[in-house]
Amino acid sequence: MLGTDTLLVSDDARVRVVTISRPKALNALNPEVIAGLAQVLDDTAAAARAGQVRALVLTGAGEKSFVAGADIAAMADMSEGTAREFARAGHGVGEALAGLPIPTIAAVGGFALGGGCELALACDFIYAAENAKFGQPEVKLGVIPGFGGTQRLARRVGLARALELCLTGDTIDAAEALRIGLANRVLPAAELLPATIATAKKIAEMGPVAVAEAKRVLHAGAGLPLAQANALEIEAFAGLFATADQKEGMAAFLGKRKPEFRGE
Ligand code: CAA
Repeated sequence: MLGTDTLLVSDDARVRVVTISRPKALNALNPEVIAGLAQVLDDTAAAARAGQVRALVLTGAGEKSFVAGADIAAMADMSEGTAREFARAGHGVGEALAGLPIPTIAAVGGFALGGGCELALACDFIYAAENAKFGQPEVKLGVIPGFGGTQRLARRVGLARALELCLTGDTIDAAEALRIGLANRVLPAAELLPATIATAKKIAEMGPVAVAEAKRVLHAGAGLPLAQANALEIEAFAGLFATADQKEGMAAFLGKRKPEFRGE
């Protein structure tokens, strides 16, 4: 069975919701949760390839916290070698999220601090509740972000804003996260999960190969010079004309009917 005591997994209409649930520690990420996430994302990749899952929503249990960071109690006595392994495992989860051929959306209510902010950043985009609080407070603990915060945050909000957040350890609210482009939408807490799932379901109705290609090209192109990135787009655009989904999508438009995409 998928999921564990601290990681709940539910599927509905080809949208998978993964909930990190350690409420007593504000859903902090210990090595067990990281290993569980890696396993769930492995399974999700297989389910996506089989057409069973077409979007993933990542959230935290309760309204107080998405994830309040990597687990400080678990990290306190780590050696350099163990810390390296822990950071590699956290990065592995980030890479697995980015590498999924389906969209991943973080639904952030309450604290998204340290590893929590980094986990949200590894998703394709973030919806936030009005009570969300984002930050990279690692310098207060004598360390730096270890699950991608120094890199993904800078790419999302710009180098100077990422430097300010990572160097001060300050926390920002949902309105500020929206203003700087860290969150895409801010919603009342009760509407956060339904609205995020609604967006996931909307994307799940689109041509799955096109969605996967759009995600792949956007992510891959972001790190490339523009000419190379544009070349990637041309190849992906052309390649989609060899798919049944392209024939179906365009025939449905011209026939004034709803497309029935098969993901092939
Ligand atoms: N790790 C372990 N336990 C944590 C935790 C964390 N990151 N965050 C909160 N908790 C625990 C608290 O220790 C507390 O446990 P007890 O009840 O057993 O004492 C419980 O969750 C509730 O927390 P608080 O009583 O502190 O709740 P609060 O409302 O007063 O404060 C908070 C909330 C501001 C988020 C505060 O808990 C806090 O500052 N947490 C730490 C945030 C942080 O520094 N995160 C970064 C971690 S380092 C990291 O993530 C490295 C990386 O990049 C990989």
